[in-house]
Amino acid sequence: MTRRFTLIGAAALALLPAGAFAQANELVLYCTVGEEWCRAQSEAFTRETGIKVLMTRKSSGETFAQIKAEAAQPRGDVWWGGTGDPHLQAAQEGLTEEYRSPMLTELQPWAVAQAETSGYRTVGIYAGALGYGYNSTRVTENPPSCWKDLLDPRFKDEIQVANPNSSGTAYTMLATLVQLMGEDEAFAYLKALHANVSQYTKSGSAPIRAAATGETTIGIVFMHDAVAQAVEGAPIVTVAPCEGTGYEVGSMSLIKGGPNPEAARIWYDWALTAKAQEIGATAKSFQVPSNVNAATPPEAPKLADIKLIDYDFAKYGSSEVRTALLARWDAEIGALPK
Ligand code: F6P
Repeated sequence: MTRRFTLIGAAALALLPAGAFAQANELVLYCTVGEEWCRAQSEAFTRETGIKVLMTRKSSGETFAQIKAEAAQPRGDVWWGGTGDPHLQAAQEGLTEEYRSPMLTELQPWAVAQAETSGYRTVGIYAGALGYGYNSTRVTENPPSCWKDLLDPRFKDEIQVANPNSSGTAYTMLATLVQLMGEDEAFAYLKALHANVSQYTKSGSAPIRAAATGETTIGIVFMHDAVAQAVEGAPIVTVAPCEGTGYEVGSMSLIKGGPNPEAARIWYDWALTAKAQEIGATAKSFQVPSNVNAATPPEAPKLADIKLIDYDFAKYGSSEVRTALLARWDAEIGALPK
């Protein structure tokens, strides 16, 4: 009890119903960051609060679909991590709970903006820019540096990217291209890119793991996922596309009607603390944390140095736009023969 008090602070505790700790023994966590970080974060929470975490790791679109499918009988308590767009869609569809954490005052403006856009049904926990990585043992001259370079016929069947239905990374790419080029041009680009794509993976970071081992040449991923492979010693060069690129506000939401609401709020407040956010770097996750007092890992790609678009989260995280773009992707890209 004393440890919990120090950890989340009096303000946070005041919001909890009397007797909350007596009941808060367990938490069902839907985790959407890398497996290693999911485990490290869950274990740290259990160590600090005594609350057992039942964690499963899935991609962003998959987790959204699961929470929607379980809406009549919710099984999860907290959705932690994953790109912000499906969190915003979940908020709009009433699948997640409104909550104003006392920790909001410690967050970066982009993290608070995510909360405001959703009517406080989600919040930003980290940020990261989209890009790609290539294996430098397989590309020895004319290295690619732009989105357009990925259409080069020399990369036929040498690129992997995820499926935007399951993966938030790939949906961020789809929404980014639409914002950079206009919708019809973006789909024309994706059709041309299809000739070079060997596989649409389920998870967003799988393509760069494949590039790291030499199974493919290029993986389109968040830049921090490419950096993580390079830090591990893989011959991966990280690229911020020259035309400009989109970014994610990785988010967290409380699942409406989840079985352990008190434990869920304890996690939520804790996960927004600087100390909890610094666990990411220990698990080789190099996103920019949302708590202003958390140290940004030195390996994290510097957002200020990247040509970022003014990503319209409200629009591309809306139910109408996300559903329509995914349906068009299925019809025009997913259905193409390989
Ligand atoms: O690997 C970490 C990460 O890139 C997060 O930054 C991001 O929110 C998440 O994975 C997206 O995963 P997916 O594309 O599988 O939904």
